[in-house]
Amino acid sequence: MSVSKRLEAASQFGTPAYFYDLDAIRTRIALLGDLFAGRFGVSYAIKANPNPALLEAIKPLLSTFDASSLGEVRRALAAGMPAARITFSGPAKRRAEITGAIDLGIGELVLENSRDARIASAHAVEKGVVQTVLVRINPKEVPRRFGASMAGTASQFGIDEECLEAELPFIQSLPGLKLVGFHIYSGSNCLHAEAIAENFEIFARIFRDAQKISGIAPTRLIFGSGFGVPYLPDEEGLDHEALPPLVNPIIDALKSEPAFKNANCNLELGRWIVGPNGWLLTQVVSEKQSRGKSIRMCDAGFNNHLAACGMMGSVLPRNWIFENLSNPAGETAVFTLVGPLCTSIDRLARDVHLPEVRIDDFLSIASSGAYGLTASPTQFISHPYPKEIVLRDGELFEATEPLRYHRYDQAETAG
Ligand SMILES: Cc1ncc(COP(=O)(O)O)c(C=O)c1O
Repeated sequence: MSVSKRLEAASQFGTPAYFYDLDAIRTRIALLGDLFAGRFGVSYAIKANPNPALLEAIKPLLSTFDASSLGEVRRALAAGMPAARITFSGPAKRRAEITGAIDLGIGELVLENSRDARIASAHAVEKGVVQTVLVRINPKEVPRRFGASMAGTASQFGIDEECLEAELPFIQSLPGLKLVGFHIYSGSNCLHAEAIAENFEIFARIFRDAQKISGIAPTRLIFGSGFGVPYLPDEEGLDHEALPPLVNPIIDALKSEPAFKNANCNLELGRWIVGPNGWLLTQVVSEKQSRGKSIRMCDAGFNNHLAACGMMGSVLPRNWIFENLSNPAGETAVFTLVGPLCTSIDRLARDVHLPEVRIDDFLSIASSGAYGLTASPTQFISHPYPKEIVLRDGELFEATEPLRYHRYDQAETAG
């Protein structure tokens, strides 16, 4: 995405604003199909970026949307995805979310524990339907080199693989449920193809164990992919070309077994698809020289981008990839970039080298398409809610969602 398009978006629509290149996002999803020669369908995890215009644009390229709340199920429906092609995972589904999803005709409910299963079965029986379910399994191990690991230790996610023998027969005995497959998502943001393949090998072993215990021939297997995105200037991206030779043999071996021949395999992911194709655009509001530092105060801070400020699990905050869109040829100098909030922790970048940053200049932060706006405390200090701008078919559009979206479902999911 050229500097000029980002500058045009910032000047035309104003800041703070998130900018998503929907054309590049669509190309990236199509690339997954080509890379693995159709071995996997793509399930987009809405949590990564739930913008309605984005969901609508990518829907035709996906096999499913994965929702993690009834609110996300509703977003998927509003984007035009049939209920039958939505999965619903999440460790603490409210009773009303489980029953609500069944009432909406959700394709696959992902059971994270036997309590989910009991509630779902009772409701399905009461309605006279049978709900299709997947069981999420929590592996004993996750290879090193995943950014965040959700397994291999005590965790709220899924059924521990050591407990499958005890729990699967119970779930299968429930009259309102039909178990059709398994789901694993155990680690995220991995930039190493070998580690991803190693993880898929672990998944295949667990899927085989679960198949033996359950006796079903799975028709759905979800591979929570963990494909990562580089956030820092010196980080190398995931070499996706290196994945097929490592991953395809694992899938082919699994599918050659009679019990798995009808298994529809899906990559479940979000960040790799949208992350690199989104930027936060911000404008410099004020400046100050303070004790040897050149400080520039911007109109976006951690209220708009928690992750870039190092507050989403980073041990040490490091500078993300900034560009000065307004003065790209300016003389390079060192700046501290801060946001508009009345707290010293509102820092976007420390000692970052950029072309001269002046008041009114527009800056962009790269790798911001996933877990940007959706994961930020936008209400803090009541600054303007960021706009969302998209590039679609080569044209810029504003795609800021109405604020009511942020509140919907509260009444029906309470309790
Ligand atoms: C169950 C599940 N699926 C998919 C994802 C998407 O992960 P990513 O955006 O890193 O691909 C997550 C992220 O936490 C998740 O918890």
